[in-house]
Amino acid sequence: MYEDRIRLARLRDKIMSAHDAATLFKDGMTVGMSGFTRAGDCKAVPLALADRARQEPLKITLMTGASLGNDTDKILVEANAIARRLPFQVDATLRGKINNGDVMFLDQHLSETVEQLRSGQLAPVDIAVIEATAITETGAIVPTTSVGNSASFAILAKQVIIEINLTMPLAMEGLHDIFIPTYRPHRQPIPLISPEQRIGTPFISIDPSKIAAIVITEKADSPSNVLPPDAETNAIAGHLDEFLRHEVKVGRLSASLQPLQSGIGTIANAVLHGLIDSPFRDLKMYSEVLQDSAIELLDSGRVSFASASSITLSKPTYERVLAHINDYKSRLVLRPQEISNHPEVIRRLGLITINTALECDIYGNINSTHVSGTHMMNGIGGSGDFARNAHLSVFVTKSIAKRGAISSIVPMVTHVDHTEHDVDVIVTEHGLADLRGLAPRERARVIIRNCVDPLYQGPLQDYFNEACKRGGHTPHLLEQAFAWHTRYQETGDML
Ligand code: COA
Repeated sequence: MYEDRIRLARLRDKIMSAHDAATLFKDGMTVGMSGFTRAGDCKAVPLALADRARQEPLKITLMTGASLGNDTDKILVEANAIARRLPFQVDATLRGKINNGDVMFLDQHLSETVEQLRSGQLAPVDIAVIEATAITETGAIVPTTSVGNSASFAILAKQVIIEINLTMPLAMEGLHDIFIPTYRPHRQPIPLISPEQRIGTPFISIDPSKIAAIVITEKADSPSNVLPPDAETNAIAGHLDEFLRHEVKVGRLSASLQPLQSGIGTIANAVLHGLIDSPFRDLKMYSEVLQDSAIELLDSGRVSFASASSITLSKPTYERVLAHINDYKSRLVLRPQEISNHPEVIRRLGLITINTALECDIYGNINSTHVSGTHMMNGIGGSGDFARNAHLSVFVTKSIAKRGAISSIVPMVTHVDHTEHDVDVIVTEHGLADLRGLAPRERARVIIRNCVDPLYQGPLQDYFNEACKRGGHTPHLLEQAFAWHTRYQETGDML
């Protein structure tokens, strides 16, 4: 049974039901689970853990790569099984529990979690639960559609539970490149100098005696839930395309640009989709998530190679990629998120990064996470890893939200994820603000002129004019800086 999936014969004795594997968990444990933006997450053991938590007190600290699919966060949180959660999530039920203070959420740069784990700054992982395509002859783990933090979770955990997912083609072996940096204080440079380079092994090497349980599953990843491009996202893509063409024309970029990173969500996916009709060629991606648009770019030949930590796709694209994984393997690599998001590598490769803002202010500070400065949306994810270290850091957003009741460009952001120092370009459907080389007052003029919805342009210009009368390097009317937000809370409209 499962000779091709569990090639180290003695480990086949560890096969058990998810229910039996879940008896390994104890109240108060720290659990590291695979899964990154709905890809490569465990499908059975978390549900069995939730079953137990419904019967008895059992609350864990749950670490993952990023968000999970299959409603796993919702099911666990409804079973009262999560005390602490890190480093990212996108689930509405969990979000509610985070925002009412029931779950303690650590919103972390995605490259940092395992650094903090291995240096003892976070509680050690008791059990790692990792989805795998196969276990090799030496007991090493071949991951599935994401790597995320799985490698370090498995290496650092006291015990490891493996879910072998039979729907993942065996041909996935060879897709991954597992490289673990040398531990501090003797850290060596990461020897990655181009996106297509492989610097590690195609599997996660661990001591097989730590494998305490193997559970067999047959469930696919949850499909991506991004919406198709619309008029606004097409306009954003158009402005960015025009800007990049200009950069090529004046000789600041070549026709293959620089390696591209694109964030999560509908807007980032749509913007990347816009590159399909661009004149750029031989593009490379060095990103953390590849959404449908990245696969379209690979299929069209516009992108010649893509490196990431996960593939999060719609159902038809997912099925096509898995069915032809052998064809994609030469143009695709999945890495641990600490490598896909590593500041050293990002700075060396000189990425063009494209991330999404919830709101930005007239000076270019970006809020990606907190609605009204208080309520967590998803988390910073990798956007900080990329934006701060980029060659060219682009933020995109629609200029308004909630049918115009909210302006995404405000006098002052209510929470700062990315400071003005990390933001080179802001794009909305109305236009693009190129902030490079500009001082705060110059940045404000170009953002208000190019990016703001006409509904809010006058009020924002008035705010800026009044603020300038008071002086300052970064002029503000402190008593009015959040008036738009408080008005929205009181009346449901920023105006
Ligand atoms: N205030 C309040 N709500 C806002 C808002 C604002 N200024 N701007 C947008 N929203 C709401 C939208 O109305 C929408 O709400 P809904 O789900 O109720 O319809 C929601 O935020 C998502 O916005 P949407 O326009 O659909 O954008 P998106 O799917 O592209 O997501 C982010 C945008 C910012 C939430 C998402 O990109 C994110 O979480 N980013 C942070 C992490 C990150 O950047 N990772 C990148 C590296 S992977």
